[in-house]
Amino acid sequence: MKTDLPQSFRRLEYRPPIYTFDEVELHIALDPARTIVKSRIEVLPGKSFEAGAPLILAGQELEFVSLRINGQAHRHFELTPETLSIHSLPNEGKQKFTLEIISICVPEKNTTLMGLYVSNGNFFTQCEAEGFRKITYFLDRPDVMARYRVTLQAREAECPVLLSNGNLLSTEKLPNGWHSATWEDPFPKPSYLFALVAGELECIEETITTSSGAKKLLQIWVEPHDLKKTRHAMDSLIASIHWDEKRYGLELDLERFMIVAVSDFNMGAMENKGLNIFNTKFVLAQPETATDADFANIESVVAHEYFHNWTGNRVTCQDWFQLSLKEGLTVFRDQEFSAGQMGSESGRAVKRIEDVRLLRQLQFPEDAGPMAHPIRPDEYQEINNFYTVTVYEKGSEVVRMYQTLLGRDGFRKGMGLYFKRHDGQAVTCDDFLAAMADANGKDLTQFQNWYCQAGTPRVKVEESYDAAKKQFHLTLTQSCAATPGQPEKKPFHIPLKMRLITDAHDQPEQLLELTQPTQTWIFDNVADRPVLSINRDFSAPVNLDFDQSEADLLILFSSDDDAFNRWEAGQKLAMQMILNDRLPDQDLIEAYRNLLLDPSLDPAFKELALTLPAESYLYEQCENVDPQKIFTARRAFRRAIAKQLQLEWAALYQQNQTPGPFTSDAASAGKRALKNLALSMLLEADPNIWAPMAVNQYQVADNMTDRYAALAALVVHGVKAADDCLVDFFSRFNNDALVIDKWFALQSSRPPVDSLEPTLGNVKRLREHPAFKLNNPNRARSVIHAFCTNNPASFHQADGSGYAFWAESVLALDPINPQVAARLARALDRWRLFAQPYQGQMKAALAQVAACQTLSPDVREVIGKALGN
Ligand code: TRP
Ligand code: ZN
Repeated sequence: MKTDLPQSFRRLEYRPPIYTFDEVELHIALDPARTIVKSRIEVLPGKSFEAGAPLILAGQELEFVSLRINGQAHRHFELTPETLSIHSLPNEGKQKFTLEIISICVPEKNTTLMGLYVSNGNFFTQCEAEGFRKITYFLDRPDVMARYRVTLQAREAECPVLLSNGNLLSTEKLPNGWHSATWEDPFPKPSYLFALVAGELECIEETITTSSGAKKLLQIWVEPHDLKKTRHAMDSLIASIHWDEKRYGLELDLERFMIVAVSDFNMGAMENKGLNIFNTKFVLAQPETATDADFANIESVVAHEYFHNWTGNRVTCQDWFQLSLKEGLTVFRDQEFSAGQMGSESGRAVKRIEDVRLLRQLQFPEDAGPMAHPIRPDEYQEINNFYTVTVYEKGSEVVRMYQTLLGRDGFRKGMGLYFKRHDGQAVTCDDFLAAMADANGKDLTQFQNWYCQAGTPRVKVEESYDAAKKQFHLTLTQSCAATPGQPEKKPFHIPLKMRLITDAHDQPEQLLELTQPTQTWIFDNVADRPVLSINRDFSAPVNLDFDQSEADLLILFSSDDDAFNRWEAGQKLAMQMILNDRLPDQDLIEAYRNLLLDPSLDPAFKELALTLPAESYLYEQCENVDPQKIFTARRAFRRAIAKQLQLEWAALYQQNQTPGPFTSDAASAGKRALKNLALSMLLEADPNIWAPMAVNQYQVADNMTDRYAALAALVVHGVKAADDCLVDFFSRFNNDALVIDKWFALQSSRPPVDSLEPTLGNVKRLREHPAFKLNNPNRARSVIHAFCTNNPASFHQADGSGYAFWAESVLALDPINPQVAARLARALDRWRLFAQPYQGQMKAALAQVAACQTLSPDVREVIGKALGN
């Protein structure tokens, strides 16, 4: 642990590597207490080679054993806790030489889940971003791409299965009950894509034929008792493979593609070449144990990791500042894939709304807070802190804007040129932009500002209608608030889809390109005053500053032909009323009623239209946020909708049942979503009358979506019967970790029944529960992160008790797993936005964490930036 000043890495200080590798041979003898790693590496001069320069390898928490060069013991080296520097290289390093290193690591002691670690007795690796250096000394940077041949050795009784990247070359029985397997990956790759898995696992497999007629073996590996929960992941993988062939002409390039599920994992999943490793949460599903949301998430994460095979692996990142090159692009691809799986045009809109809601709830606050950074950051202390919603979700919005500006065909052409130019290379975001611009002959110079500047742009909208001239004037003015290190911003290139809504329906949708600080457009032949529908389909990730009248918003909410903007108008109406402490007026109630009764609308759309903006999004619209006041106003608004539409909710509850065997398709899921919103609204309106119906649904449900929704409605609305159901739920699913995570998360994210109820005690009790495990990220998140980030009214207590709990938890998690601790640390990012006494209490909690002398670099960076150092 370091106590000196934090070290920063800067994008503009990038230098190509001095040395590079071509062939890498690894022999790994797996033992939980003492794994011996022997590497044999062909080393060559790199792009910034200088004769006589030392070869400096990264290595962390390794026990060094020996070093040989060209077969001879080599004594000219130095070790530090983070490096192995090798001097006096043969011929000053000018020619290829062979490096052989032996080192030892201790997987069973590795609680960080980076590098090689043990989970439920099996071995797994996680190397992105800089975990490979915890396995062996290496040039652990993405612009060093090498071909790997890997021999794994282990005791056969404990590790019958031995997997690594690429193709299986051979297996062998060894003395003393050991065995080995040798794998070869034909594609050069950076070390962050290396993986191995070893242990007692079983798989389902399937053989498919890809577009060129090649046969491919697909496998999903899990602990034996989970085999029955792998079908949906396999179907998702097959659908993803077909989609990438059809949409982009991209084919699977290996003979075999494997997915492995592990229950201890820091994030969602990892795209290691040919051997994706997944959090069990994003693989395992059965109707009885997984909700519709789980099914949809599995589909999109499987697709995401598969799509990385081309966007990330075949073409990778030059350095970690370019992370959005692969992540933004791959999120865009998985969003488009999932939208296509929805089955209808309105289904696509539902997916778009869900994605935008996530962006606003999580990314907009990030972009307005102390950790704000461009999608291509300029500076970081710990790269693990930059796997952010900005790099991923805003990055995807930026990629989507290319498609909006260039059209689907133009975008496809740009992708074609990108692969033609860069297959097998480690490249930059500039290279991607250049491919898009060159393939389409479009000047995208100004578009670069999306990569350079942080902050959510604001677009001020001013409209006027001249009845005499039949002209509509539109003036758009853009601005962007200062973000850390960026006081002034240059104008962005902002594509805004818009349409003038008229009675005659005679105005087409248009794409406006806002490039100047202010621009005016004049529309002729507009017979009557139109209603402006702008930023349709959320064509640009901006905030609109537009005083549209409630009457116009009601028109859009009831009749905009752009489903996204229709939803948006409803959100804006609700938001304005909640922030002004108003209840929904009769016009809005009627609009809600009409929408709910409209047979032409998707149930999934109705559910989204009647779901209120999240508290975290409401906070961003104010200054001096009083979280209790917002909670109370939002809850009262919801109760009014619940009560005034009680008959409709009751009818919807009946009409949206999904009898017959469970299917996870979007249409059925949409019905369940609306039905379960109706159930929750009924309990909101009158828990005494409707609780028995929820208890009944809880008891008779044949699927987790309905069982969980009923339980959640009972718990959230503080119904007495919830207690028995919670006990029942725990014992029913006691041996299913992912379901028990839901049980914990539901309780720790339960809002207070009123703003005075102290719910912190419940969460502290959950932390003492025998099934709670701080070392398991899913479990820790289900209790601690759920409380600190999904339960704002309980977390933000005026006495600061929620923040004290947060500080205690960050400090407890940090020595175990800095990545998981640093995520939690971000919960106080927006402290400056809050009114007193909250703000002062948050600052005190931050200072308490900052005072710890042994913080990880991960937590140190987050806390330091929050406090403004
Ligand atoms: N690259 C992975 C993805 O987006 C995510 C990832 C990055 C990750 N670093 C990780 C996963 C560390 C687990 C642990 O698909
Ligand atoms: Zn990714």
